[in-house]
Amino acid sequence: LKVGVLGSGIVGRTLAAKIALIGNEVTIGTRDVEQLLARTESGPMGTPPFSVWHDENPAVHLGTFGETAAYGEIVMNATAGVASLEVLTSAGTQNLSGKLLIDVSNPLDFSKGMPPSLTISNTDSLAERIQATFPEAKVVKALNTVSAPVMVDPGAVGGGDHTMFVAGNDEPSKARTSDLLKEWFGWQDVMDLGDLSNARGMEMYLPLWVRIFGVVQAPFFNIKVVR
Ligand SMILES: NC(=O)c1ccc[n+]([C@@H]2O[C@H](COP(=O)([O-])OP(=O)(O)OC[C@H]3O[C@@H](n4cnc5c(N)ncnc54)[C@H](OP(=O)(O)O)[C@@H]3O)[C@@H](O)[C@H]2O)c1
Repeated sequence: LKVGVLGSGIVGRTLAAKIALIGNEVTIGTRDVEQLLARTESGPMGTPPFSVWHDENPAVHLGTFGETAAYGEIVMNATAGVASLEVLTSAGTQNLSGKLLIDVSNPLDFSKGMPPSLTISNTDSLAERIQATFPEAKVVKALNTVSAPVMVDPGAVGGGDHTMFVAGNDEPSKARTSDLLKEWFGWQDVMDLGDLSNARGMEMYLPLWVRIFGVVQAPFFNIKVVR
């Protein structure tokens, strides 16, 4: 399978490395490949410069956002929420049309420091904005409620018995996403919340996630829906 991962941050890298490791072809998308490789500063939370990571993960291809979206049979949005619509627009409507677009982003505004606030909430969500902007794409919200390492290794938290949510309007795309979460990463408990308006709940969980993180002081936690 060819997967296009839009986003060169910790989420894009973590997803790309794991999806490539298990035998898929993966391209990471960025604004400017040369500039990305030329960066020498570490990212937030001490993430190494991209080139250091790429030297350790040479199987992952690099491209512009447009090249990456065109490449992927499945496309994942792992870009900063405040930039996601701009990034996807630059990636090209035609490159997303008819494709499963797994949206991992969160509409977080860090401009006033910590904790971040949501730029979209209550009666709308970033996932719905993306779907409205790209009506031909099949947007499924997933993975945004856990940290990057937990996305690809749920077993790292309590043996993996905790809940991942999905929401989306296209039932086959959502079912495929649930299958991929299990097959690629080992998720056991995937809860379908319903249509894409339910991404509001998934994104509005982030203010609580941030507070839990403040207490746990490490990103290795998740919630389990117990009935
Ligand atoms: N960090 C986590 O554990 C975690 C967990 C769940 C969900 N998320 C969500 O996943 C997404 C990615 O998070 P992240 O921490 O990996 O990285 P990030 O720093 O939020 O995003 C990095 C990506 O966004 C692009 N970007 C940033 N500002 C841009 C702008 N003004 N115009 C165009 N592109 C821009 C960058 O492009 P370049 O490549 O060109 O620099 C890069 O590809 C976010 O929406 C985040 O909320 C994160």
